Amino acid sequence: MMIESSLINEPIPRHIAIIMDGNGRWAQARGISRNEGHKKGLDALRSVVRSANDLGVRWLTLYAFSLENWSRPKLEVASLMGLLERYLELEIEEVMEKGIQLRSIGRPDRLPSRIRKKVDDAIERTRNNSNMTLVFALSYGGRSEIVDATRKLLRDAELGKIDPERIDEKTFAAYLYDPEVPDPDLLIRTGAELRVSNFLLWQIAYTEIYSTGVMWPDFGGSELMDAVRDYQSRERRFGLTGEQVRGTRNGGG
Ligand code: FPP
Repeated sequence: MMIESSLINEPIPRHIAIIMDGNGRWAQARGISRNEGHKKGLDALRSVVRSANDLGVRWLTLYAFSLENWSRPKLEVASLMGLLERYLELEIEEVMEKGIQLRSIGRPDRLPSRIRKKVDDAIERTRNNSNMTLVFALSYGGRSEIVDATRKLLRDAELGKIDPERIDEKTFAAYLYDPEVPDPDLLIRTGAELRVSNFLLWQIAYTEIYSTGVMWPDFGGSELMDAVRDYQSRERRFGLTGEQVRGTRNGGG
């Protein structure tokens, strides 16, 4: 992938999260099965992982399978699980070679045990890699993550490990699925929808959102660069005024 110099002269988002949407519609438009669309979606996923790593992105979180996706037709669920398995089998060598670390967030207890084992093995095998970290949101829901965090927090409170009066945002965030993952700087959604779809609800409080009409199977390195360029044109104010932010950036008050 050719990376334009103008792109790397500006800050590259440290953490990009992606809602990979549109496999089904992409397939439908071509008169082929949804599963064929997901297959093409896996090719897009591989190419985007490569491009993000080349761009110097440190964290990439992909919404691979939501809790709601369990309610899709059985065959489609099986096909998505099969693709995940294929990714873990076929890409692990390249992932190792590139020094990419794998992690996952979600409720793993619902995954078939064979898949769960493959995911765990891949996480274990890549744990000392220190280039980009690729986080798979698998069997994931944002509200469930908050509920699960609350449950763990209350258990610790019951055990007297935590004082309810002292719980603040930082304490709470430490109970999320993977507290080491920083909040995303940029959230990309493909497939022309303007929804958050229960993805990283806690973490996207100040995330820049980019939506594109491109269906996921057509998304690749050049589309990723378009999104990053768009991100670079924005001013992130985190609730402050533009003057305040620009003052800080120039070293002033
Ligand atoms: C959305 O397309 C996509 C998903 C359900 C998940 C993303 C899946 C892949 C990238 C394929 C590889 C799979 C894994 C698990 C690694 P959609 O079916 O919702 O599209 P539609 O909105 O057009 O129907």
